[in-house]
Amino acid sequence: MHSTPRDLDTPEAIAELLDAFYRKVLADDRLRTLFVDVADIELETHLPHIRAYWCKLLLGERDGYRRNMVARHLALHARHPLQIDDFERWLKLFRETVNEDFAGPSADRAKTLATRIAGNLVQLTRSPINT
Ligand code: HEM
Repeated sequence: MHSTPRDLDTPEAIAELLDAFYRKVLADDRLRTLFVDVADIELETHLPHIRAYWCKLLLGERDGYRRNMVARHLALHARHPLQIDDFERWLKLFRETVNEDFAGPSADRAKTLATRIAGNLVQLTRSPINT
């Protein structure tokens, strides 16, 4: 028997989602290259930023994330051009991870926002001023 999935509406749920998402990202050949070989992220420093970002988006934590995530992705793109397939892969894993453990309005919002933000990043990385 599966219990009813929780919604993605607490800091604890968001932290769990992101742990599971990064396990998938780092197990994926295509994305691991970008996160590990190109950006050389340290999970202990990266995860708190990502958690703060999603807590701000989903829980409206006003004093949370204040960094410039777009600039960071453009810097990554400048070092290693991001492909449409990279975005599709990222989104597929993100949606999959949400669907595995969460359901509800906030879980739906997370998927909608991720899709929209990924779309914005695609546009920005296709723009001639960012190539
Ligand atoms: C092709 C898809 C993507 C790839 C390969 C990617 C990769 C990365 C990498 C390597 C970093 C670390 C950059 C650094 O510390 O310099 C990063 C940071 C981040 N990413 Fe992405 N990302 C992707 C899409 C997204 C999307 C769609 C979102 C949001 C919905 C997102 C949210 C973030 C946030 C919040 C950070 C933290 C930035 C900070 O340190 O303040 N990413 N991403």
